[in-house]
Amino acid sequence: MTLGILKESDGEHRVALTPDALPGLMKLGFQNILVERGAGVSAFFDDASYEKQGAQITDLDTVLKQSNLLVKIHPPTQSVLDQLSAGQILIGQFNPLGQPDVVEALLQSGISAFSLDLAPRSTRAQALDVLSSMATVGGYKAVLTAASHLPTFFPMFMTAAGTIKPAKVLILGAGVAGLQAISTARRLGAVVEAFDVRAAAKEEVLSLGAKFVEVAGAIDDKAAGGYAVEQTDEFKQRQAELIHNHAAAADVVICTAQIPGRKAPLLLRKETVAAMKSGAVIVDMAASSGGNCEVTENGKTILHKGVTIIGDSNLAASIPKDASVMFGKNVFNFIKLIAVKGALNLNFSDDIVRATCIAHNGEIMSERMKQVMQTA
Ligand code: NAI
Repeated sequence: MTLGILKESDGEHRVALTPDALPGLMKLGFQNILVERGAGVSAFFDDASYEKQGAQITDLDTVLKQSNLLVKIHPPTQSVLDQLSAGQILIGQFNPLGQPDVVEALLQSGISAFSLDLAPRSTRAQALDVLSSMATVGGYKAVLTAASHLPTFFPMFMTAAGTIKPAKVLILGAGVAGLQAISTARRLGAVVEAFDVRAAAKEEVLSLGAKFVEVAGAIDDKAAGGYAVEQTDEFKQRQAELIHNHAAAADVVICTAQIPGRKAPLLLRKETVAAMKSGAVIVDMAASSGGNCEVTENGKTILHKGVTIIGDSNLAASIPKDASVMFGKNVFNFIKLIAVKGALNLNFSDDIVRATCIAHNGEIMSERMKQVMQTA
């Protein structure tokens, strides 16, 4: 079996597998590991570090031609897909719920493609849950980014030059990213409060020492696998008023609220941003799916009425070394499910293998993806 590690395109500093994963892959039966030249350089893993673990450094065409299994974080370009054929397997995090066109292209290519962001949120799947590992990195970095843009301190200071009050941080959405943001902001000494529509989030927020901002009457659908669901208009109105008041008093707002495959909920309206303190900072991690803030521009940092708004859904890429190690562990744990006794075996009766498969012999295997494509 031959495994190929592909280089990401410009702007993405992570790599899908790091050198530390290579000995384990060889034990699984990969006699050859091919690395596209420079694949890990932006994550601070040079070609020599892969060679030291037994990999061969080569050009893109050779990796594509010779690999049975390929790994890449983002979807490959059409010209890469044109060089692949049935029988080859590709693993990554392709955001298929938000990009049905990517699924179409993968189906046309004839390859078998697995997108780990579709893994079920089960205990067994935790080891390969890229959404959780990248949200952990993102939530941490969102707070550091806010702190570095804030014209005031995070912690309280009592000095001879007077007392500085601690920053007030409001976290919107208390999933994996939000909870990590709470911990990081608390460690930096801020006073933190958080809001989520899922009732289960309250206990987690309180356990991290933050206050829970509560709006009564949320729809908390257990059938949604722990994810948030669309709320009623009346709830949204009450929610908007409460968030408006809390945001106006905050120095920092970290936006992490998302609904998989849907536009992100709009939680900070223009009027709310206008009511915020001069110098306040908003980091909108939901920017790529429309943003939680009405003023957010995806991929940009803007100043609007004295408030800095950072729209960045790929913050994990800015901590590329550890983010790549974590991503690589997730990928390795997935490969363990399909590389059995030295051969690749796609066992679709395994719920994780099935749920993550967005293309196999021109067919979608994931039920969740099938439903999204039918309604698209
Ligand atoms: P996510 O990235 O899909 O969304 C982030 C947060 O935004 C969620 O907590 C969501 O409830 C919240 N949100 C959505 N709409 C909102 C609104 N209108 N206002 C305020 N907040 C809103 O969430 P993530 O981090 O992927 O977690 C989703 C679920 O999966 C959670 O229940 C989490 O506990 C669970 N989970 C389970 C795992 C496992 O069992 N292996 C691993 C990771 C997460």
